[in-house]
Amino acid sequence: MIFDRKEEKTEHYSYELQISHKRHLDALKQEFLKNYGAVIKYEKSAEDFDLVRIIGIGSYGTVFLVRDKTTFEYHAMKAIEKSQVIKKKNIKQLYQEKKILQSIQFPFVISLDFCCKDNLYIYLILPFEAGGELFTLIRRMKNLSEPLAQFYTAQMVLALEYLHHCCVIHRDIKPENIMINESGYIKLGDFGFGKTIKSRTWTICGTPEYIAPEIILSKGYTYSVDWWSLGILIYEMISGYPPFYHSDTMKLYEKILNGVYKTPDYMTPTCKSLLKHLLDVDPTKRYGSLKAGVYDIKGHVWFDEINWHMILHQKIFPPFMPICRNTGDTSNFPEMDDVKLKKSPDCLFEKDFENF
Ligand SMILES: Nc1ncnc2c1ncn2[C@@H]1O[C@H](COP(=O)(O)OP(=O)(O)OP(=O)(O)O)[C@@H](O)[C@H]1O
Ligand SMILES: [Mg+2]
Repeated sequence: MIFDRKEEKTEHYSYELQISHKRHLDALKQEFLKNYGAVIKYEKSAEDFDLVRIIGIGSYGTVFLVRDKTTFEYHAMKAIEKSQVIKKKNIKQLYQEKKILQSIQFPFVISLDFCCKDNLYIYLILPFEAGGELFTLIRRMKNLSEPLAQFYTAQMVLALEYLHHCCVIHRDIKPENIMINESGYIKLGDFGFGKTIKSRTWTICGTPEYIAPEIILSKGYTYSVDWWSLGILIYEMISGYPPFYHSDTMKLYEKILNGVYKTPDYMTPTCKSLLKHLLDVDPTKRYGSLKAGVYDIKGHVWFDEINWHMILHQKIFPPFMPICRNTGDTSNFPEMDDVKLKKSPDCLFEKDFENF
C-alpha cells in the first residue's frame, strides 16, 4: 500500500490505523472462506414461520415479514419462485447469492439466518431490519444533510472494503438495497447480483442510474464498479436525485459515459472533491481502485469528522433514529398489495435446486 498524504487527505485517519484494520479484515476473510466452503444444513422449513405481511417486491422475489412459530422472532423472508429462476437461467446466480449471504459476517451487511425450499420456492430468511429502506428515507426527507450522508457513507465504505477483501463484488449498490436497522445503522442487502471474483468479470448487470461506465462498455470490470455506485449514492443522498438521469436508458448510458454532472450549490467543496474522485469515468483513476486502495477514500477530508473505529463498533449515536415501536413494526415500509404464495402437490425442479 502506498501512503501518499496529499493536501486533501484528513489528519484524522492514519496509515497505521488502516494497517491495523487490514489485519482485522484478514481474520474476517478467513471466517468468510470457512463458511463459503461449508455445506450448511438449516433445520427450519417455511412451515415454521407465520407470514405477517409483504414488505418488498423485487424483480425475483417477494419479501415478507415472518414470525418464527417457536421463538416468536421476526425475520424477513425472501421467497423466490423456482420456475422464474429457471426461466431467467439464474440458478447459478441465486446459488451465489445464498453462498455469499451464508458466509458474510459484518456489522453493516445483511447475513443469512436460514435457507429452505418447498415444492415451488427457495426461501432466504434474513434478520428483519425494521427501519426501512434508505430509499424511503431519502424520498421522505427529500435529501439528507451531509453529516447524515457521511454517517451512512462511512458504513458503506467499511462494508464494501470488507466485501472486496473477501473477493465479493456487490454490483447493485443503491438506496433500495440499503436497510436501516432499529439502532439507526445500516445493513447492505440484496446480493442478487453479488459474485465472488478472481480477477475481471463481464456480465452487464445492475440498476441503470447506478451502473459504472466500464460495465456499459462491456470491456470487463472489477471492484471499481461498486466505488462508482457509491459516488452515485452519495450524490443521491445529498441531492435527492441521481447525477445522471434520462428516461431513455440508452441516452442515460451516454450521459454516464460522458461523466459530466452538475452538483447543487449547497454541496460542500470537500464533498464535490470526493465525488470527482469516485465518479471518474476511468476506473484506473477512480478512488478505491488506486494503489492506496480504500485508504484514499477513508483518508479524504470529507470524512474529517468520522472516527472509523467508533463507526465500526457502532459507538456513535446516529444522527437519525428510525421510529420502531417493536421488533416487528412495519410502519417504515410502504403499504403494498398482498401477494399469496402458490402451492403445488408436486415438487418442481428438484434436481436443479438440490444444492439449496
Ligand atoms: N432483511 C430485510 N429487512 C427488511 N426489509 C427487507 C429485508 N430484505 C429485503 N427487504 C425489503 O425487500 C426489498 C426487496 O428485497 P431484495 O432487494 O433483496 O430483493 P430483489 O428481488 O433482489 O430486489 P431487486 O431485484 O428489485 O433489487 C428490499 O428493497 C427491502 O425493502
Ligand atoms: Mg433489491
